[in-house]
Amino acid sequence: MNTQHDWFKILTKCKNNVEEAIKPHLKTLNEPQPDLGKGAGGDAMKPVDLAAEKAIVNTLQSHDISFSLISEESGFEKYGNNPEECYITIDPIDGTTNLLRGLPFYASSIAVSKKPVISEVYAALVADLYHDITYIAQENKGAYRDGKKIKTSQVSSLQEAVLGIDLNTYKVTEIAPKLTDLIQQTKHIRHYGANALELCYVANGLTDSFVDIRGKLRTTDVAAGFLIIKEAGGIITDPNKQPVNVKLDPKQTLKFVASGNTKIHDTILGLVKL
Ligand code: IPD
Ligand code: CA
Repeated sequence: MNTQHDWFKILTKCKNNVEEAIKPHLKTLNEPQPDLGKGAGGDAMKPVDLAAEKAIVNTLQSHDISFSLISEESGFEKYGNNPEECYITIDPIDGTTNLLRGLPFYASSIAVSKKPVISEVYAALVADLYHDITYIAQENKGAYRDGKKIKTSQVSSLQEAVLGIDLNTYKVTEIAPKLTDLIQQTKHIRHYGANALELCYVANGLTDSFVDIRGKLRTTDVAAGFLIIKEAGGIITDPNKQPVNVKLDPKQTLKFVASGNTKIHDTILGLVKL
């Protein structure tokens, strides 16, 4: 396994190339976008998703990296002579709906791990592609926003909190009642529509927590964001306060609560009905 690559540099290059690759697609948003069938994660694929994926793969190959790709679009692919050297888990575009509608909140997410397991991620990047802001982290080296070290929020009271909650489209009659006590006690609720980036908002202290207990979100969306939050001093567990240690697989889903500090995390877990 090779952890010796300069991942800050390589991941930043991936992000730059994704930005270039999606430019032509951003110019044609008013034209009908062809559906390219379903990606490995189960969602409809658009040309912009594949363009971003290709940019990431090409960049890694141009750095002579052997890797196993785990992508929301193409699923599992192997590259190079020694593809078990590292696993690259990507959501090429998180927030495709936002991008296609011109909503300024979408991201690219790339996580590097020794094994296809979320706890093994050791380098990660989430790029806010609209605002050209880069969140990046390496294990035990901290988390950074555009080169500046970031820390999670210390807000511990829900009366002051800004809380992200994803209630998007899925089993809402089952999930919403589990969250009503929490919503009722929280000052501000948000959902922007690209969960990889919403995790970085927790890492950066812009929001205090993010809750997604739908059981719908895939590991490809959160693999990078999880490391970025941990390296920024935050905490992530499942709704039972157990570690989230799932395999990295485009079909693998998870439930989680991610918070800036333990105090608000415990308060939230106490209010979520299981
Ligand atoms: C979506 C976003 C969104 C979440 C959806 C995801 P995608 O990712 O993260 O915020 O509510 O569940 O599918 O499909 O745009 O990569
Ligand atoms: Ca996606």
